[in-house]
Amino acid sequence: MVSLTADMSPLHPDRNLALELVRATEAAAIRAVPFIGRGDKLAADGAAVDAMRAFLTTVNFDGTIVIGEGEKDEAPMLFNGEKVGNGRGPQCDVAVDPIDGTSLTAAGRQNALSVIAVSDRGTMLDASTVFYMDKLVTGPAGVGVVDIRLPIGENIRLLSKALGKPVDEMVVSVLNRPRHEQLIADIRAAGAGTRLMSDGDVAGGINAARHNARTDMCVGVGGSPEGIVTACAIKALGGHIQGILWPRDDDEKQKGADHGLKTDGYVYEADELVTGRNTIFVATGVTDGQLVAGVSREGDYVYSESVVLRGTSGTLRRIVSEHLTSKWL
Ligand code: FBP
Repeated sequence: MVSLTADMSPLHPDRNLALELVRATEAAAIRAVPFIGRGDKLAADGAAVDAMRAFLTTVNFDGTIVIGEGEKDEAPMLFNGEKVGNGRGPQCDVAVDPIDGTSLTAAGRQNALSVIAVSDRGTMLDASTVFYMDKLVTGPAGVGVVDIRLPIGENIRLLSKALGKPVDEMVVSVLNRPRHEQLIADIRAAGAGTRLMSDGDVAGGINAARHNARTDMCVGVGGSPEGIVTACAIKALGGHIQGILWPRDDDEKQKGADHGLKTDGYVYEADELVTGRNTIFVATGVTDGQLVAGVSREGDYVYSESVVLRGTSGTLRRIVSEHLTSKWL
């Protein structure tokens, strides 16, 4: 049952904040326009980061970035610990990914998103010292059914039964990486199809969790920041997400452990990735994708499409905007 009172407290992220945050993802996506398909992912990311930072300062909240993004390839970033917002309003943990899919953007390929996720202060797992996380994401049918500890073939069979869908109609999305060679072979051996993603497993996870999705499950190792961001969205979609931190070497494993992370194969459940239901996830399309259309410039106008998901209400809201090109580019 949706609580009507949770929103009334000025201490918690509310729907007004959710709508305000869209301005920041819209700004990041719009400023990335000149770089879409131009081969320079750092320039695209830099423009998006600067725009997102500038807009976040105007938002009525007291945010601390728990999950910044970019450290792994020295990309521009909003730093972990950085304060965002105007300091008034609810105290929040913030995860940002000004562009998830910088390479997709540089290449002009599908599924790049600009993303912000927010939750109550102290509720987001700071997984930033370990760059990768193994993830299993499904829609609501997978809750209490699939488990990341099981072999992939078993999870496919269990989910196919829960969905009432033959295994040979099941589609599993996974990042196309050498580390997933065996996983991809196992998915196919189980009788399911794969949707191989070149990048962008935030969009991949959300697409797998949506009720009218073309994919049923998203699995494999992607960024840890992306895992936390995805968890905020999955809470609103009522789906399933589990994550296992995937340190690249012993140093990283130790560094994670020193920061209080469980780096020895521990399975983080959805409520450990982000505690509680009061999550907000906003995303604006940078390039076209299944979730949202990409930002496009057509003469005097720039068009954008965004989604806002709120854990409290379980709502997915779409926002289509027209912006005057002269004000932006
Ligand atoms: P960037 O936008 O930072 O390049 O991230 C894209 C991405 O594909 C994420 O969606 C994914 O979680 C991660 O990179 C996977 O990392 P890698 O490319 O190192 O396998």
